[in-house]
Amino acid sequence: MNKSVYDALDRPLRDLRISVTDKCNFRCTYCMPAEIFGPDFPFLKKEELLSFDEIERLATIFVKELGVKKIRITGGEPLMRRDLPVLIHKLTQINGVEDLAMTTNASLLPRYAKDLKASGLNRVSVSLDSLNDDIFGKINGRGVTVNKVLKGIEAAEKAGLGVKINMVVKQGMNHEEIIPMAKFFREKGHILRFIEFMDVGNSNDWKLDDVYTKKQILQDIHNVMPIEPLQPNYPGEVATRYRYVGSNEEVGVISSVSDAFCSSCNRARLTAEGKLFTCLFASNGHDLRKLVRSNLANTEVADKVKNIWIPRKDRYSEERGDKSIKREKVEMSHMGG
Ligand code: GTP
Ligand code: 5AD
Ligand code: SF4
Ligand code: SF4
Repeated sequence: MNKSVYDALDRPLRDLRISVTDKCNFRCTYCMPAEIFGPDFPFLKKEELLSFDEIERLATIFVKELGVKKIRITGGEPLMRRDLPVLIHKLTQINGVEDLAMTTNASLLPRYAKDLKASGLNRVSVSLDSLNDDIFGKINGRGVTVNKVLKGIEAAEKAGLGVKINMVVKQGMNHEEIIPMAKFFREKGHILRFIEFMDVGNSNDWKLDDVYTKKQILQDIHNVMPIEPLQPNYPGEVATRYRYVGSNEEVGVISSVSDAFCSSCNRARLTAEGKLFTCLFASNGHDLRKLVRSNLANTEVADKVKNIWIPRKDRYSEERGDKSIKREKVEMSHMGG
């Protein structure tokens, strides 16, 4: 039986991104600027969070009843959630999950990589925006050194986890780090993806002029190390892929601003307190915590989610230029990346 559920723009639900905490030990300027996410910031309280059993139940419903094949754990920083490997293990028990990945800043990987691998995690996407301590320390807002992240990457590799690197590129902040990063991770054999600075949330003071575009990024790389395009690995892949000519080494660009990819967007996002968002830029989520805490059967919860997905028409990145559409957004650290 084909359980795929398609939205109003004919996009199936395939990818569930589960945020397990809205807290992070970094304060990246483009995500959780320290002046806003200070000591008084109202982070979610423990009792508001979905329990691991509740997350497992919802994930089971998304996989078994709604056609999800890929799960990504996000945050904030997911490893700030206590006992995360326990949740990973629960999720690996769900038949039908083809890929289980996690987005992380890597700072806690030396402590957890082995356990995460043993629990069944396949791979991690590590955020790193520069190889220069001064630049990186300023970006992460906490003076964290590059070496701290490299140690985390090393721990992940050693444990046998797949590793990709994500670099947010912002004009003037770190665009001169594109080549050093590309060279370094090409040598290391990790796929590096450059992410255009996005207008997620309401606090990162986003301006179009700050976006260093996909075209600029590709040109910079091509000037030094010629690249050629590759086909997507799977339908709806967020990154466009390139290969360094004459090699199998790969690099990618995620161009939500200059070259939007909404037409193939198959991603749903579940926040740590159980709200379902059908777009990274949506203003409102749908309360699944209420449903998972009710006495509804799994199929009944699934029907409610279908009623959310089927009318979905989100395509924010394609509509971004339309100034008549104004909306209050949700922070990336809350929604998950
Ligand atoms: P792979 O599974 O390795 O292909 O990665 P992924 O597609 O799951 O990408 P990942 O989670 O590493 O996403 C990298 C970044 O791309 C995220 O942190 C976001 O910044 C951005 N991104 C991912 N999905 C979306 C999306 O649906 N819309 C927009 N606008 N940006 C997205
Ligand atoms: N623009 C682009 N990417 C962002 N991320 C966080 N905030 C932004 C933004 N404003 C990325 C991080 C990380 C993932 C969680 O999302 O760098 O890779
Ligand atoms: Fe934390 Fe990642 Fe946001 Fe940086 S981008 S503040 S590491 S959640
Ligand atoms: Fe999907 Fe919204 Fe991102 Fe478009 S902007 S790709 S609809 S999450």
